[in-house]
Amino acid sequence: MWKPPEKIRWSPDPGHLPDAGERASSTLFSPLQSGRLALRNRTWVPAMVPWRATDSGYVTPEVLDWYGRFAKGRPAAIVVEATGIRDVPSGPLLRIGHDRFLDGLEQLVDVVHRESGGTTKLFIQLIDFLAIKRRPDRVKFLERFLTITPSHRHALCMSEAEEADIRRAMIAMTDDELEPVLTAREFEALTKGYREQVNDMHLDHIKDLPKVLPDLFAEAADRASRAGFDGVELHYAHAYTMASFLSATNRRDDGYGGEAEARVRLPLEVYQAVRETVPEDFIVGSRFLASEEIEGGSTLDDVCHFAAAFAGAGMDFLSLSRGGKFDDAKQPKMGAAAYPYTGPSGYECMPQYISDEKGPFGRNFSATSAIRKAVRKAGFETPVVAAGGIHSFDVAEAALNDGTADIIGAARQTLADPDWFMKLETGHGSDIRLCEYTNYCEGLDQNHKQVTCKLWDRVQLDEPGVRKSSDGKRRLIAPDWTPE
Ligand SMILES: Cc1cc2nc3c(=O)[nH]c(=O)nc-3n(C[C@H](O)[C@H](O)[C@H](O)COP(=O)(O)O)c2cc1C
Ligand code: SF4
Repeated sequence: MWKPPEKIRWSPDPGHLPDAGERASSTLFSPLQSGRLALRNRTWVPAMVPWRATDSGYVTPEVLDWYGRFAKGRPAAIVVEATGIRDVPSGPLLRIGHDRFLDGLEQLVDVVHRESGGTTKLFIQLIDFLAIKRRPDRVKFLERFLTITPSHRHALCMSEAEEADIRRAMIAMTDDELEPVLTAREFEALTKGYREQVNDMHLDHIKDLPKVLPDLFAEAADRASRAGFDGVELHYAHAYTMASFLSATNRRDDGYGGEAEARVRLPLEVYQAVRETVPEDFIVGSRFLASEEIEGGSTLDDVCHFAAAFAGAGMDFLSLSRGGKFDDAKQPKMGAAAYPYTGPSGYECMPQYISDEKGPFGRNFSATSAIRKAVRKAGFETPVVAAGGIHSFDVAEAALNDGTADIIGAARQTLADPDWFMKLETGHGSDIRLCEYTNYCEGLDQNHKQVTCKLWDRVQLDEPGVRKSSDGKRRLIAPDWTPE
């Protein structure tokens, strides 16, 4: 993972542990009731892909264990990992693109409701993504895959040459020499692997995205509702299709790209289609980027516009993330695919302990606060979820009380200690296992390995019935906690 050049080391700070009076009067542990959304308090576990589905996208016993363990900690809400809405092979990504996935998803809902004693609301994150290919072998790419164009001939001063000679000349060049000869897309396909983009209007299936996506999302949301979920989170963040529509890099000329008003059109149409399909009390919110953190990305004004539009359309919550784009991803190894969390924008999405003077904790707060303010100014009370490095009562409480957010999302801290919110709430804060923000878990995620936490995955491995990773070396869920 990319790290800021300053390389300043930060440590998590548990802050002060609230006493009974502080807990009772806190905002963190007070209920939230806003429109359709009712939560027992302000604690929220954002989506985390644990790579535990089958290769065909079905729920497995390991998936059930993962969510059951989070549910035991009784957060007010859990968002199930990014789940594919199309009925297409997607490797071990959880899927909801067909009714055959319903059985497993129903079991998932049952486990969470049972383990949380019915106190945790369960939402599922719905994702669409575009095709991405692995970084090709250089010679094969230049010999076979690249289409030779007049522009290549011109750049190489080889207008009359045989195509085979042009390919041979290119193979003999260094990447630096080739860069000005190829288009930016061709150079990216050569050095990182080909990736479809929403701007590829010459491809019919990309041109037609605005026609097909509203129905695909609506059908997936309908399945989520039939499986018993309390709601869905539309994934409009990071490197995926809907975030690319919102992005200032979206230059489509069909009324869905260009100015912010046009870029938000499809996300609103998707929301409308979903809302019209699901029952009236079903929760529908979205996760999107407070900041893309890439060159030429959307401005804060653009995002405030999106947020107010989503709130105005009636979304039940707005969850804000940051970065996580392909645009600045690290060059993958030959034969591997680019991963959107490897560049500077990836750092902003899951900031780790080696950081800059700003540090990894609450990096998204100031943008989140500005966006929430814009939503309130537009006259909407839609709850806003903040996330990014939150691991203490003090920081959570301050963010709730200073108007940054209405709900506190903690992903890695909850992976490190699924009981941490409960420990705080019940006066056992000194038992909390603090996340060290080393991103060992994110490294596993990057390699599509079953995600665990380094603070507990080698602990009590011989415990009877403990389920282990495929290589048998790591336990897959945190050990149980019983208050003394
Ligand atoms: C292993 C892992 C998987 C993740 N998967 C998702 C995902 O499926 N969808 C999503 O929106 N964010 C995903 N995230 C990002 C988190 O939801 C969260 O925004 C990020 O980790 C920052 O919050 P934190 O500092 O509380 O961990 C993932 C993070 C991790 C560590
Ligand atoms: S592995 Fe555990 S301690 Fe390390 S960042 Fe992930 S959750 Fe935190």
